[in-house]
Amino acid sequence: MTEQIATNVHWHHGEVTRADRNRLLHQKAATLWFTGLSGSGKSTIAVALESALYGMGKVSYRLDGDNIRLGINKNLGFTADDRTENIRRIGEIAKLFVDTGIFALSSFISPYREDRDKVRQLHDDSNFTFIEVFVDCPLAEAEKRDPKGLYKKARAGEIKNFTGIDDPYEAPLNPEIHLNTATMTLEEEVQTIIDYLDKNGFLIGS
Ligand code: ADX
Repeated sequence: MTEQIATNVHWHHGEVTRADRNRLLHQKAATLWFTGLSGSGKSTIAVALESALYGMGKVSYRLDGDNIRLGINKNLGFTADDRTENIRRIGEIAKLFVDTGIFALSSFISPYREDRDKVRQLHDDSNFTFIEVFVDCPLAEAEKRDPKGLYKKARAGEIKNFTGIDDPYEAPLNPEIHLNTATMTLEEEVQTIIDYLDKNGFLIGS
């Protein structure tokens, strides 16, 4: 766990609660944590899910690896320590969104199991729901897609510590949702997630 450096700081409670905001928005917000290889389809699924939820009158917001690394996490690279800090910060940001009553759709490779489990713990500790979505795609398939041409560069030694090539990806052991993007269509993937949210009471009044 990252050490608390500031002392004499305390959480300041407001009068409007998370439950109030959820009621206002007719949803029970949660973090949907998409994890998988680069090119597995995380961002594509999150974009489609965001649209589908919007169509149902539900509010969500995407936290996307590349976007976040261009802003709040621009000072982080791809060493193990930097990836850990990347994921820790996103975990905290996701919690803030869920606290506002909005579904956080987080798409990060988040290759290390321990880092994802810490984010889950962070959620559990404050009674937030963490839904791990394994965007499962064989390396060979992700490499064939290579939408950004990064696998080619990594194979040529032009990118170091590339996940799946010379840096590990540790698949989830017990994800709440497991999507096999090599065999499922985008529509099926989105529907699987919507069904899960519906069945588990996250889409109130839908
Ligand atoms: S994570 O490992 O810290 O979760 P994150 O999802 O934020 O990674 O960023 C991954 C994106 O950064 C990839 O989709 C790819 O576009 C880009 N990238 C650049 N260098 C690397 C690298 N060495 N390993 C993985 N992704 C990289």
